[in-house]
Amino acid sequence: FSEFLTDNFNRQHDYLRISVTERCNLRCLYCMPEEGVALSPPAHLLTTAEIVYLSSMFVSQGVTKIRLTGGEPTIRKDIIPMMQEIGGLRRYGLRELCITSNGISLYRKLDSMAEAGLTGVNLSLDTLDPFQFQIMTRRKGFEAVMKSIDRILEMNKLGAGIKLKINCVIMRGLNDKEIIPFVEIGREKSLEVRFIEYMPFDGNKWSQGKMFSYQEMLAVIREKYPTLERVPGHKNDTSKIYHIPGFEGRVGFITSMTDNFCGTCNRLRITSDGNLKVCLFGNAEVSLRDLIRKPNNGQPINHEAMDMLYGSDFGQMTPRMDGNSKFSNDMQRELLEVIGA
Ligand code: GTP
Ligand code: 5AD
Ligand code: SF4
Repeated sequence: FSEFLTDNFNRQHDYLRISVTERCNLRCLYCMPEEGVALSPPAHLLTTAEIVYLSSMFVSQGVTKIRLTGGEPTIRKDIIPMMQEIGGLRRYGLRELCITSNGISLYRKLDSMAEAGLTGVNLSLDTLDPFQFQIMTRRKGFEAVMKSIDRILEMNKLGAGIKLKINCVIMRGLNDKEIIPFVEIGREKSLEVRFIEYMPFDGNKWSQGKMFSYQEMLAVIREKYPTLERVPGHKNDTSKIYHIPGFEGRVGFITSMTDNFCGTCNRLRITSDGNLKVCLFGNAEVSLRDLIRKPNNGQPINHEAMDMLYGSDFGQMTPRMDGNSKFSNDMQRELLEVIGA
C-alpha cells in the first residue's frame, strides 16, 4: 500500500468520499432546515472533470473505494457520465464505486449506474410509513424510495451484485417504534439495515433525549429476537454487524455517539467545493480545487497517459512519490499536512 496516504495513526486512507452536490430534494429533520442549506456559488463547486481528475489521482495513490454522496448525488445532472468516468478507474485499481442516496430518483438511474460500475448503494430511509415519511423528510416520495429498493434487489437477482444498505436514523418519539419492522425487512431480503445514532450537526436541534442509543436498540431487538448474534466485521467498518439465524439480511449499527470508531476510520472526504477533510467533525481542510485549477489541470482522465505512466498492473504496484506521481509537490505537501502524516 502507498505510504503516502498512511497517517500518524497508521490508518491507511484507501476510501474516498466525494460530495458531488450540497443540494437535496428532501429536508430530513435531523439534517437540513426547511429552507435548505446555504449554497456555494456555482463557480466554487467542482466540475465533473475536476471530480474525475481528483478521483484518478487518489486511485493512483492507493484509494480502492469511492463513495459519491451529497446532499443528494442523483440530482446532479451529470451524475451518470461522472460515474462512467470514475468507473473507468477500475482498470487502475479502483475496486468499489458506491453511492449514498435517498432513493427518490435513484430507480430511474440504476441501470446506467450499474453499467458504469456501481457496486454499492447506501439508501437513507427512516420510516416504513408513508405519512411518517412526510413528517421526517418534509417531502413526499416514499413510494419512489421503495421502488429504488425493489429495483436494486431485482437487479441483484439477475446478478448485478450491488451491495444494498438501508441507513435508518432512529429518533426517540418519531420512529423508535419501527426498529422491529425495519429488522424484519431482512427476513427475506438480502440487504443490511443499519441503525444510526442521531448525531448533532449545526442547527439540527439535537438533544440527548432524542438520541436512541445502540444499547437501547440492541435491547429492543433482542427482546423479540434473542438469537441475534454479532458477525465479525472488517477492520475499517463504521458499523457493528449482527445477524438473526434464518434471516437473509443483516442488521448493522452506526454508534457514532456512544462508541465512536475514529481509531479505524480510513475515510478521506472531498466536499462539493473541493476541500479535503479527513474527519466529518474536523475543521482542517485544504482546497484541492485551488490546487488543481491551474492550466491543463482538471481535465478528464487521459487513459493513454495513465497506462503509459503506470502500466496495466497499476493498482497492484506501490505508487511512487517521485516524478511518477501525478500529485504536484504543492499538493503532496498540503495533503500530508491535512492527514497528519
Ligand atoms: P460504508 O462503510 O461504505 O457502507 O459507508 P458509510 O457508512 O461510511 O457511508 P454512509 O454514507 O452510508 O454513511 C452512514 C453514516 O455514517 C452517516 O450517518 C454518516 O454521517 C456516518 N459516518 C460516515 N463516516 C463517518 C465518520 O467518519 N465518523 C462518524 N462519526 N460518522 C460517519
Ligand atoms: N445523525 C445521524 N445520521 C445522519 N445522517 C444525516 N444526518 C444525520 C444525523 N444528524 C445520515 C443520513 C444518511 C447518511 C449519509 O447520514 O441518514 O443516510
Ligand atoms: Fe440530508 Fe440525506 Fe435527508 Fe437529504 S436525504 S435531507 S442529504 S439526510
